[in-house]
Amino acid sequence: MDEKGYKYGMIGLGTMGRNLVLNMNDHGYSVAGFDKSDSQVELLRKDTGERKIYATSDLNGFVKALKTPRVIMLLVPAGKIVDEVIQELTPLLSENDVLMDCGNSHFTDTNRRIEQLQKSTIHFMGIGISGGESGARYGPSIMPGGPKDVYKYASEMLESISAKVNNEPCVTWLGPGSAGHYVKMVHNGIEYGLMQLISEAYHLMKDVGCMNNDELHDIFSKWNGGMLHSFLIEITADIFAQKDELTNNRLIDMILDSAHQKGTGGWTSQNAMELQVPIPVIDVAVSMRDLSAYKKERQAAQQKLEGTGNKFEGDKTSLLTWLEQALYFSMITTYAQGMSLLYFASREYKFDLKLEDIASIWRGGCIIRASLLEDIHAAFSRQPDLSNMMMDDKIGQKLMHSQIEVRKIIQIGIEAGIPLPAMMGALAYYDSYRSGWLPANLIQAQRDYFGAHTYERNDRERTFHTHWNQENQ
Ligand code: 6PG
Repeated sequence: MDEKGYKYGMIGLGTMGRNLVLNMNDHGYSVAGFDKSDSQVELLRKDTGERKIYATSDLNGFVKALKTPRVIMLLVPAGKIVDEVIQELTPLLSENDVLMDCGNSHFTDTNRRIEQLQKSTIHFMGIGISGGESGARYGPSIMPGGPKDVYKYASEMLESISAKVNNEPCVTWLGPGSAGHYVKMVHNGIEYGLMQLISEAYHLMKDVGCMNNDELHDIFSKWNGGMLHSFLIEITADIFAQKDELTNNRLIDMILDSAHQKGTGGWTSQNAMELQVPIPVIDVAVSMRDLSAYKKERQAAQQKLEGTGNKFEGDKTSLLTWLEQALYFSMITTYAQGMSLLYFASREYKFDLKLEDIASIWRGGCIIRASLLEDIHAAFSRQPDLSNMMMDDKIGQKLMHSQIEVRKIIQIGIEAGIPLPAMMGALAYYDSYRSGWLPANLIQAQRDYFGAHTYERNDRERTFHTHWNQENQ
């Protein structure tokens, strides 16, 4: 195999990088891959066979093997390593070469790197990729951001390797600067929210409905055939059927209930706070992962702090019917929160995002793909400038239709002492958003009372301050 003239480069040959290389090659592209670790290089070589793929741990050799202008994808862990790779690589590159960071970089890091590389003649793009191992291998959802005229160097290849829905590729240029990484971050925030909601449904079915893993497998499989049809529901059904190799139990019962996180959900919450955009389901999903990690404290508290001990007396069939609707309701509001964050962030950061395009490329390949995204896509096609998709007639109808069930499910959870914070957050978001009046007048009064922070009136202009109940001060 000659070591020249490769069309694309991949730095980072871990599972994602390696699978993307193979995917690109399946679609007719020659790819050179680089990894510092010889064992990763070896793994790719094993898969290479007669393919036009070159794998090396020599950075110079890797750069020389590429056609110019070079188009190099980076799939290395987010953070310092991305900076280190850029630093090592850029002296070896030439004018108009393109670097595409395809990891989960924080969008502010991407902004900094863009600025840093602006001084050189090398182009930089931040690209979000979702779909895990099998997405990378057989078709991910791809979220590119950066200079539009640079995107053309990779657009054809990205379209061919991406997932397809109705023959449409799940990739499109999303916006300038760090738009791609921003959208991927919000994708992950939604992912956290949906996962928390599903785990709450599991908790309720397991502890209140006393359902075993076979029943849970059947229920999630059935749900996946209906309105909840989605990747996360599908894999959840599979999970309950998985046997443990080390014991006779189901694997799910042997996994420690302490969730980890790489940070993208937390970044979404932090940024939403900064922009003052409410995304309560995502916030609570992050907090619940945090709380789950306090395993020892929770075990101690279980010995000391009692609940009511109430049991669910109703029938299981109704519980399941209500829960399916409750989950649907809560999932809609989770997407609504993510989309509304994108709406406001797009204005703040001048991304000029097309929410219709984002819903479209999330329909396939990514972790949050779901039938519901067809409706979301349709909503933003009807009204591209919708600040909150709950105001779309069809989506609003769906929420109004399923709200009774989410209220019933939350009551059951409260009675039985099962925490359903994401579902509660979903319902509270809906109820608050549809409230023409909220009790924030009282908060304003309190602020003015203790801090002279002033308030506005609802019957005349300008701000006011009152000397509240002087005698009590
Ligand atoms: C994807 C996923 C992926 C994410 C991991 C784990 O879209 O393919 O979002 O990018 O990094 O699934 O994320 P946490 O470790 O934060 O749960």
